[in-house]
Amino acid sequence: MRNLTEENLSDAVVAAMAAAGDPRFKEIMTSLVRHLHSFIREVNLTESEWLSGIQFLTAVGQKCDEKRQEFILLSDTLGATTMKDIVNNRKPPGVTEYTILGPFYRPDAPELPLSGNIAGDISGEPATLRGRVLASDGAPIPNARLDVWQSDAEGFYDLQMAEIEGTALRGVFHTDVEGNYIFRTIKPSFYPIPDDGPVGGMLKAMGRHPYRPAHIHFIVSADGYEPVTTELFVDEDPYLDSDAVFGVRESLVVPFVRNDSKEEARQLNVSVPFYTVDYDFVLEPV
Ligand code: BEZ
Ligand code: FE
Repeated sequence: MRNLTEENLSDAVVAAMAAAGDPRFKEIMTSLVRHLHSFIREVNLTESEWLSGIQFLTAVGQKCDEKRQEFILLSDTLGATTMKDIVNNRKPPGVTEYTILGPFYRPDAPELPLSGNIAGDISGEPATLRGRVLASDGAPIPNARLDVWQSDAEGFYDLQMAEIEGTALRGVFHTDVEGNYIFRTIKPSFYPIPDDGPVGGMLKAMGRHPYRPAHIHFIVSADGYEPVTTELFVDEDPYLDSDAVFGVRESLVVPFVRNDSKEEARQLNVSVPFYTVDYDFVLEPV
């Protein structure tokens, strides 16, 4: 293994892993080394470009702490997270599609009764989301669990609000015996992903904006069914076709229908005007 060249260096590095114990690890590292070497050759990476890359990755690591995961943000903004999500969540047509979890999930959302309001006294335009959780054969799923979270009308999650103690704009609901769910909230806004670190700098250098289109996050689960992590996107949002993390799927874009009916508002216990969203989640059996 001397006098290695452009042509045989990759083979030499792969051969050096011959004794690796874990075959999957070996498969992944072999592919990684080959792609990395091909990339360096393809772009003729210079000494200073290599050093800039190392400095960038160092800065990404240094930006990470218990609250901030800049490496996941890098993966998100390079489409790596969504590529990983797509290959791991191939679902039959009609089943609710998976999309990115994001950094703002927390497992301690309060359990709320159906019709409960996750917005509490946070201001915004009232919205009611309702529908059913169904099996892929159309049968309603009673007692399915919907874990919901979203940003406020300015695009901030509770984890970003210094004044909030406990949780806000999140809740856990269970469907009734006919598989129905209904909850109240406020219409979310588009918002920028955290862009004050090296990933934000990378986006600028790429000529990209940091915005995600307005959406509400869900994890929907039920005994005997594959859970789905997903989002419902507000139709007509200006960023639907340029999501900074590439998570939009057409089947998840839903109309927020403006409603001025005082009678319906009274029934739903909201003020007018309000928005309604009708969406059925569909789960596949395990
Ligand atoms: C989110 O939708 O909450 C999100 C996803 C990826 C990166 C940042 C935020
Ligand atoms: Fe989000």
